Amino acid sequence: MQQDSKQQEHGHAAHAQHHEHRHMAFADAEKAAVKFNSPTRDEWQKPEEIVAALDLQAGETIADIGAGTGYLVAHLSKAVGKSGTVIAIDAEDAMIEYLASRVEALGPATVIPHKVRPDGPKLADASVDAIVILDTWHHIEARPEYAKTLFAALRTGGRLVIVDSPLEAEIGPPAQMRISPEQVMQELSAAGFQVRIADESMPRHYLVVAGKG
Ligand SMILES: C[S@@+](CC[C@H](N)C(=O)[O-])C[C@H]1O[C@@H](n2cnc3c(N)ncnc32)[C@H](O)[C@@H]1O
Repeated sequence: MQQDSKQQEHGHAAHAQHHEHRHMAFADAEKAAVKFNSPTRDEWQKPEEIVAALDLQAGETIADIGAGTGYLVAHLSKAVGKSGTVIAIDAEDAMIEYLASRVEALGPATVIPHKVRPDGPKLADASVDAIVILDTWHHIEARPEYAKTLFAALRTGGRLVIVDSPLEAEIGPPAQMRISPEQVMQELSAAGFQVRIADESMPRHYLVVAGKG
């Protein structure tokens, strides 16, 4: 994954290769977890900054799109607490199975693994308070349409945070998959969001905050 090799993200060398991985096995998810959930990841991923940008309150419902092996779910769960809910969304069966095997460990919030197709998060309108997309927005193909579904899924006052790799970062996805923060802002504002680039201290990522007024 990102700390292991330049121009190669989480073992996905390019979109084509990503699609080959679509039917990964549970064992592959366990292998991915060794990297995604590495105990040293917090040092550069700064999950506390992502959680702060989401402005989460106890009892809220947050969707983590592209939840993978639950690295961020653990942090989100603590922020919304026992009365809160984390919907852990992924397009890969193996990731969903892996998440399902860990829902108790990912407490105290109620954690709901949610399998989706790649073209939409399958969330009801006005059903969530916040959405986070970590290292996954660049995997979404029809982003303008996808952004509209995110806007609809959020309640009024809802927040969307997208964390992804800058074009110039030394470590991250292949160059052809990267999206600039300015492009992300454009995609989200076209869907109706109020957007800004947040201050952060992550060496490998930017953080875009979008609000539904
Ligand atoms: C690079 S991993 C990041 C995982 C996690 N967010 C993290 O940072 O550890 C990308 C994840 O997004 C999922 N994914 C890719 N495209 C997706 C889509 N269109 N909808 C939902 N999940 C998707 C993949 O299966 C994978 O688990």
